[in-house]
Formats: sequence, C-alpha cells, structure tokens
Amino acid sequence: MAWTIRTEKPEDAAGIAKVLTDAFSRKDEAELVAAIRNSDAYDPALSLVCVEDGDIVGYVLFSPVVIRTADCDETPALALAPVAVLRAFQKRGIGTALIEEGIHRSHQKGAKIIVVLGEPGYYRRFRFESAKEHEIEPPWDVPEGYFMVLGLETNVLRDVHGVVHYPEPFTQIVDVTE
Ligand SMILES: CC(C)(COP(=O)(O)OP(=O)(O)OC[C@H]1O[C@@H](n2cnc3c(N)ncnc32)[C@H](O)[C@@H]1OP(=O)(O)O)[C@@H](O)C(=O)NCCC(=O)NCCS
Repeated sequence: MAWTIRTEKPEDAAGIAKVLTDAFSRKDEAELVAAIRNSDAYDPALSLVCVEDGDIVGYVLFSPVVIRTADCDETPALALAPVAVLRAFQKRGIGTALIEEGIHRSHQKGAKIIVVLGEPGYYRRFRFESAKEHEIEPPWDVPEGYFMVLGLETNVLRDVHGVVHYPEPFTQIVDVTE
C-alpha cells in the first residue's frame, strides 16, 4: 500500500476535480464539490483525499444533512457523497479505505447517523442498511434499496424517522443515482 489518506488542502481542488471527472465520466460531481466547498455545508475535516506519489487518486466527502419528521423534528446526520477513485486505481482498496476512514472520523466528531445514495451491493460492506426499513426517506425518487443508512451507535436509528434534507448544492444534481 503506497498511498495515504489525509484531509483536503486548498491546493488539492484541481486534483479532486480530476478524480471526480474521471471516475464519473462527467463534470457534475466535480461541480457539486466545488459548490459545497463554497457553502456553509463544507467541513474540511470530512473532505478526504487519497494520495499516491504526490497525486490525488481518490476522494470522499461527508456533508451535514438533517432528518426531518412531518412535525419538523430534526435529527442531524451526515451524507456520504461523492466518493470516487481514478479509474486506473480502482479495485485496490482505496474506495474502502476512504469510506472507512471517513466513517471513523465522522464518528469521532460526534456523528451518529450517515446516509448514502448508491449501489447497495457496495455499501452493505460498510454496514449500511436500507433506509426505508428505518422509515428514513430520501428527498428524491430513487431506485428501491439505493438509499441507505448507517447507525454509528446501538439503537440510534430506532426512533429516527423522516425525510433527509441535503444542503442546497445537492439539489442541483439531476441524476443522483449514477
Ligand atoms: C465506487 C468506487 C469509489 C470504489 O472504489 P475502489 O477503490 O475501486 O473500491 P475498492 O477497491 O475498495 O473496492 C472494490 C470493490 O467494490 C466493488 N464495486 C465498485 N463499484 C461498485 C458498484 N457500483 N456496485 C457494486 N460493487 C462495486 C468492486 O466490484 C470491488 O469488489 P470486490 O472487493 O468484491 O472485488 C469506484 O469504483 C468509483 O470511483 N466509481 C465511480 C464513482 C462512483 O460510482 N462512486 C460511488 C457513488 S457516489
């Protein structure tokens, strides 16, 4: 393992954009991250890069969201999005390491719940479960099973239900499932 994971530095922006554009084959996620960086939702401590030989080869971001009931009770949580690894560096454990480190740091900062929108087959390995089973809904129409939740403490999901509200930059992404 020749790579390391660390928090984002200001000079990393171009490298992060390159990773996102390469991994997703489009610019939407790079533009999303740039918009979040300029918003109140940005927490540099939860913006992680993977570096190999001085180059950024992977990236993951966790942003604050709230889970809001119909009665407007709010529970804070984090959303994992996006995560990406340069195509040439995939399937070497970098994505797993970024997500596991991000979950660890999120927990250390006091987070109790993390949501993610993505392939259930990938995120189950990090113990994410179907959010629907916990009556936690995404703000968008998404394919069955693709919206997932991870409780970082025992029983923390038991009494939390509602719709997840994302920071404004996320609402600009049209196709959230790719
Ligand atoms: C998803 C992604 C970050 C994984 O990075 P990675 O460094 O290749 O991941 P790892 O090496 O830790 O894990 C690879 C494993 O994940 C699996 N995997 C990767 N993408 C997957 C997907 N969309 N669905 C299911 N499994 C997936 C691989 O098949 C591999 O499985 P294995 O361990 O059984 O061989 C990377 O494939 C990527 O950048 N994809 C494009 C962007 C993307 O879709 N991001 C996620 C949505 S926000």
